[in-house]
Amino acid sequence: MNILVRELNEQKLEVFVTRILDDLGAAMIAPLVRIGDELGLYSALAASGPVTPEELARRTATVERLVREWLSAHAAAGYLDYDATTKRFSMNPEQAMVFGNPDSPVYMLGSFEVCQAVMVDQPKVSRAFRNGGAAGYHGRCNCLFSGMARFFGVSYKAHLVQEWLPALDGVVEKLERGARVADIGCGHGISTILMAKAFEQSRFLGVDNHEDSIACARDAAKRDGVAARTEFDVATAKNFVGGNFDLICCFDALHDLGDPVGAASRILQALAPDGTFMAVEPLAGDRLEDNINPVGRLYYAGSTMICTPVSLAQEVGLALGGQAGPARLEAVLREAGFSRVRIAAETPFNIVLEARR
Ligand SMILES: C[S@@+](CC[C@H](N)C(=O)[O-])C[C@H]1O[C@@H](n2cnc3c(N)ncnc32)[C@H](O)[C@@H]1O
Repeated sequence: MNILVRELNEQKLEVFVTRILDDLGAAMIAPLVRIGDELGLYSALAASGPVTPEELARRTATVERLVREWLSAHAAAGYLDYDATTKRFSMNPEQAMVFGNPDSPVYMLGSFEVCQAVMVDQPKVSRAFRNGGAAGYHGRCNCLFSGMARFFGVSYKAHLVQEWLPALDGVVEKLERGARVADIGCGHGISTILMAKAFEQSRFLGVDNHEDSIACARDAAKRDGVAARTEFDVATAKNFVGGNFDLICCFDALHDLGDPVGAASRILQALAPDGTFMAVEPLAGDRLEDNINPVGRLYYAGSTMICTPVSLAQEVGLALGGQAGPARLEAVLREAGFSRVRIAAETPFNIVLEARR
């Protein structure tokens, strides 16, 4: 008898298959979440009381038969409530926090945009597995960049001005007086703009080597009324222009760089003598066994599809990965020449490192 069959534990198998069925259901509903996001079905549900499929279809100018199926899938998933007596669907307050309220600290629609991007780009990453490992940001699905901005933006909105900056030694006082700040790997500039809105006396430079992202950041700064105190440049983390910055930040970007040590050295050189480098990185422990949890699960998957092949596509290709952990990150910063490094703050998704000369 096959040893695997002989040792099979039927109960464990049932538990595991049930778990995979649950995961498969989650994977299959991800495109439905994208549809609800794109077509305004969630915002319409959040604004209305309980609705029938006909009512939701009318409010959103969509086809009732498809809306009915979409609503049924959501009821089966527990993503919406269904009242069998009235045959109406509704969003309860908890579901509304996740799907219906863009200002909520647990708004998650952007994360599904990232899921879509990694599915679209999966063939590129498959090829990278046999082909040196590189699959850079350039040529990736556009929804990767907008999705990352929305996904990370939720945390930044909730923590950056309220907790992370105050956790740094003396930085808020400088920002209030008027400081020079650079945001390296700024993407769509969500973090840059949040800081610019909060500190009117300061000036902010956002840098990213992805041209489309910089164009989006410039547009967003205009829309949000902070264009006069922000500037956005297309440049790499090693060749950005400028110096004497009081604060340089890197939001969920340091581990993506091919040469994070080289970039951190350039950052050190660009800081004022008593300047601060804040590296916001994905939350992780130092060992794989510390990261076997829901956040580690999400981030190792993201790291396989995004962070690691992106770093391998750049010079040096250090490939820290999205779960590098504080010890490895501290080693990178020290190798770059920073002598004072500490963990300044921690949130459910991020760790905030403060590094000084
Ligand atoms: C995970 S995204 C984070 C974006 C942004 N900080 C945020 O949190 O929304 C990493 C960003 O780093 C940028 N990036 C990657 N390698 C870079 C490099 N060598 N120089 C400058 N930017 C880089 C990417 O284009 C991308 O926008």
